[in-house]
Amino acid sequence: MDKIVIRGGERLIGEAGVSGSKNASLPIFAASLLTEGENLLHNVPRLQDIQTISKVLKNLGVKVHGEGNTYRIDATEVTNEEAPYDLVKTMRASILVLGPLIARLGKARVSLPGGCAIGARPINLHLMGLEAMGAKIELRSGYVEAKADRLKGATISFDTATVTGTENLMMAATLAKGKSVLQNAAMEPEVSDLANVLKKMGAKIEGVGTSLIEIEGVESLHPTEHTVIPDRIEAGTLMIAAGLTRGNIKLLKCPFRHMETVILKLRETGMEIEPEGEGVRVVGTRRIRSVDVKTQPYPGFPTDMQAQFMTLMSLARGLSIITETIFENRFIHVNELQRMGADIRIQGNTAIIQGVESLSGAKVMASDLRASASLILAGLAADGVTEVSRVYHLDRGYEGLEKKLAGLGANIRRVKEEG
Ligand code: EPZ
Repeated sequence: MDKIVIRGGERLIGEAGVSGSKNASLPIFAASLLTEGENLLHNVPRLQDIQTISKVLKNLGVKVHGEGNTYRIDATEVTNEEAPYDLVKTMRASILVLGPLIARLGKARVSLPGGCAIGARPINLHLMGLEAMGAKIELRSGYVEAKADRLKGATISFDTATVTGTENLMMAATLAKGKSVLQNAAMEPEVSDLANVLKKMGAKIEGVGTSLIEIEGVESLHPTEHTVIPDRIEAGTLMIAAGLTRGNIKLLKCPFRHMETVILKLRETGMEIEPEGEGVRVVGTRRIRSVDVKTQPYPGFPTDMQAQFMTLMSLARGLSIITETIFENRFIHVNELQRMGADIRIQGNTAIIQGVESLSGAKVMASDLRASASLILAGLAADGVTEVSRVYHLDRGYEGLEKKLAGLGANIRRVKEEG
């Protein structure tokens, strides 16, 4: 297992490119199951999670060929309907093949994803929607077993906005008989990117980007070509890196318009963030102001930026309050930040952060994808050396983050860990 070693204190200066979105790529890969022929996808990030979804698709008989950031996915032959436990347990987003498989084959056997470090992460809303569309669902020995002669359009109301739930049901509805309406649908840009791909494949979808999505089922879809949107969470992570180091960076291919709430909050802390030519200029400040944040579904402040923002607040002047409303256990990074000298107290789903003058480098351990990013960010600003272990969490969702940071002047390197 590798570790990342950082000597803090370097100001980040220069340019970095934002990679394609992980959370747009994953459902778009799954959407290839809906049609014969080859989907051609550009700007796909080279990530562990992309390897995993590729393995899940190959296991179903789909041909997946990646060269750099371009992938060719040909689902002409779907010879198997099972997504096995040993793959799904490494990435719960594998559940995104469930809807497309039922729509394409009329059957699916997908391992229940189970919980993860940040929460129980149930899929009851995915299953509720598929049953409303006529699928027969049984849970047997840890698997979802689904059958449907042909899905029929239905009106589905989510009592909680769910990103992959919306994506799964939107994909299933494209080939259902009749009209489906998704109420309280997730509005994340990644959901919209998937919807735009489905429309290019011939799907009839109205209300993209809103919480009311209407899908008129069609008899069949056809393959298409698409460039995945940039990753707003990686972009936000790099912005905070500049904010923590009084940096002055330019982000290329930055999805500025998908980051309104994050940018407003970062400006409140004293950072300057403005479009500049084809990119976005990000300037940190010596005095980081403390700002309260509450995570919300899009367009609110994203839960995937909560850990990174907490690192910034740990060095702000004053007290800030961060409330996590989406996941029940997404403060695992707090213990590790405290070991670096952060002053953070947890009360239920609320963290109270008293900014400190400085953090001290330490050996810390990553626990989940965004927690590992928050610890690397802390290392950039800490006095001395920080070693972040278990960075396989990081590799799931960031394409060469340490290389991008090193390119901006950070003293950071990846070390192969013995054993
Ligand atoms: C997606 O996960 C993202 N993953 C997550 O990003 C992100 O944190 C999350 O959305 C919230 O924005 C992908 O897109 C691959 P949800 P998802 O369903 O779809 C509850 C990262 O770091 N819920 O929107 O699994 C659920 O428990 C990852 O890249 C149900 O109760 O999240 C949670 O409280 C981490 N029943 C809330 O809804 C369901 O059937 C939102 O979860 C489904 C969800």
